[in-house]
Amino acid sequence: MGQKGTQEEKSSDLDDATFVDIVDILEGQHTGNEVSIRGWIHRERDIGNMVFFNVRDPSGIVQVTIAKDNFDENKFEDIKKLLVESSLKVQGEVAEDHRAPGGYEIRASDIEIVHASDDFPIHKDQSVEHLLDNRHLWLRSTRMRDILSIRSTVFGAIHEFFRDNGYKEFQSPIITPLACEGGATLFPIDYFDEEVYLTQSWQLYAEAAIFGLGNLYTIAPSFRAEKSRTPRHLTEFWHAEVEGLWLDNEDLIELGEELVLHIAKKVLEENRNEMENIHEEGIKYLENLEGPFPRITYDEAIEKLKDAGMDVNYGDDFGVPEEKKLTSMFDKPVFVTHYPKEIKAFYMKRDEKDPSKVLGYDLMVPHVGELIGGSVRETDVDSLIDRLEEEGEDPSNYDWFLDTRRYGSVPHAGYGLGIERVIMWLCNLDHIRDAIAFPRTPNRCRP
Ligand code: 4AD
Ligand code: MG
Repeated sequence: MGQKGTQEEKSSDLDDATFVDIVDILEGQHTGNEVSIRGWIHRERDIGNMVFFNVRDPSGIVQVTIAKDNFDENKFEDIKKLLVESSLKVQGEVAEDHRAPGGYEIRASDIEIVHASDDFPIHKDQSVEHLLDNRHLWLRSTRMRDILSIRSTVFGAIHEFFRDNGYKEFQSPIITPLACEGGATLFPIDYFDEEVYLTQSWQLYAEAAIFGLGNLYTIAPSFRAEKSRTPRHLTEFWHAEVEGLWLDNEDLIELGEELVLHIAKKVLEENRNEMENIHEEGIKYLENLEGPFPRITYDEAIEKLKDAGMDVNYGDDFGVPEEKKLTSMFDKPVFVTHYPKEIKAFYMKRDEKDPSKVLGYDLMVPHVGELIGGSVRETDVDSLIDRLEEEGEDPSNYDWFLDTRRYGSVPHAGYGLGIERVIMWLCNLDHIRDAIAFPRTPNRCRP
């Protein structure tokens, strides 16, 4: 990108100028040249005859200096009155200046005010609630820009990974009468006088489709009416799910590990700057991350937690404290396999060697805990019916699903990965709500 034309009609060629990205200025590509930029005032300061704006565009922030002498008096007064978040176009010469943030400044020769902002509500009160109320405006912060840029890379990496491995993208309904992950977290909706639910998972429908289409994946929203308010639960989250034919638990572990490593690699390639801003130490961690990740069984995990002085008993499910403790014992993500069937979903296949356990895993990462939950699927109709009844479900509601086991069923397996949890892990976020633009939690569904 470069500037269109030169300075032959210096007065106002901002209307049809070619605009450069601020990041290119900060990388020294335009030093000494006359350029045009457009963006928003991020900070402003004036010292009488000089005004300093830090101007932001989606690529970066650069200082603009405006000297009274270069403008007619009224224009200078208008510029001086501009508040933070006003939008504008600027033309001027790029100069290196070590005092400016980023090391460069633009010495303005022309400015077009696009919109003079009202008093922006965010500069003083930065409490969590205030920022959430003003989320639509807070998305302009460099913090949200960095996190959501990383998020965009993560989505791209997941699509790329599955497509490169021959998986097709498949969509399941969002409105469903079925509980995939248990009745406790279902979101009921009134479907013309019938109670149905927002989907908890794509899985059950994908299990029907793989017998025709082959290996499948999706990225879609899942919904959980989570009663527990934890820093890692949303009521609406983005779920990457996969279902593959003929896979056993070993294959599924590899598929989980490879996906996580691919995501880490892409973020390092595409978001080094964002990572430096958000979580610099994370760069080294990701650079050193390689497989294989350690694997322990549920029984071993219980022993380790007990040895560490935690109050856990065989049969307990893990919560945030247990998962934090466990992941702190490893310098890589860790696979926990062979959970007791009672604390896992009805569709998980029992281990023939020990039918009290299921063939599946949770992949846990430091700071977050469970990132992936997956399993080999039970293919025996009677076992599925038993498990549904144990869960208090009416198996007749699942009749179509049970058909997938009545007509030439084959071994298959799959997992789900919570995308906001990946971002929470990569960016070391204290709370999952910052991993998504407009978070939905038990006490918030606005804006
Ligand atoms: O372990 P979960 O509940 O597994 C399933 O839904 C399976 N049907 C997936 C499958 O095999 N196709 O959820 C999978 C992942 C979790 O490991 C977690 O990362 C994420 O989804 N997750 C949530 N993320 C944010 N907020 C919530 N309330 C979440 N519940 C699950
Ligand atoms: Mg789970």
